[in-house]
Amino acid sequence: MDKINVILNGSPVSGTKGMTILQLAKENGIDIPTLCYMEGLSPTGSCRMCVVEVKNSRTLVASCHTPIQPDMDIQTHSPKVLKARRVIIELLLANHSDNCLMCDKANLCELRKIAADLDVGLTRYSGQRHFYPIDDENPYLVRDLSKCILCRRCIKASREKGKVSYFGIGSRGFESNIVSSPDQEINEIICEVCLDACPVGALSKKGEILPTKRNRKPLYIKG
Ligand code: FES
Repeated sequence: MDKINVILNGSPVSGTKGMTILQLAKENGIDIPTLCYMEGLSPTGSCRMCVVEVKNSRTLVASCHTPIQPDMDIQTHSPKVLKARRVIIELLLANHSDNCLMCDKANLCELRKIAADLDVGLTRYSGQRHFYPIDDENPYLVRDLSKCILCRRCIKASREKGKVSYFGIGSRGFESNIVSSPDQEINEIICEVCLDACPVGALSKKGEILPTKRNRKPLYIKG
């Protein structure tokens, strides 16, 4: 197998052809935060949380889908990288439901964990937020799109693991949201893979969601 030598955080390391920067970092015990990337699914490169600095590159690059190249000089936690990740997380939080204390996902929320790791508490940004009604049309899942960060992992999971294009992107720009296809057959297994893929509390299993103050409508969910 072709070996590729690179510099990772100042140390010479080697990887193999086709390996991404994220994979190489992981293999070398370096943790790069990710949101839209999930092992076992193809990367979308949409959230930019995994950005790293590569010497002589004009911009920061997304490590989850950038393959290593010979002699790359990569910094995974430089001040520039950390600053960019903090801005990204703050922008996500600025359009995210702020009822973390009542959220079903609680300490399993990847957004919350990354924010804490980056020392981000409250966001400095304010602006228009999305508020969507709870969607419990699906027989197995409850969707709260106010918590969705548009990572697209549910779309990938339903397509690549469930072999059904159950979820997709609807609308554009600020109005983009995840829509489900009423024409697709859905079953519990597909819902489980989507549920497992969601990094936040946007998808919950029916029967397990807790009613929150904001969701005044009783969430009755046959379990
Ligand atoms: S994790 Fe790489 S772009 Fe989202």
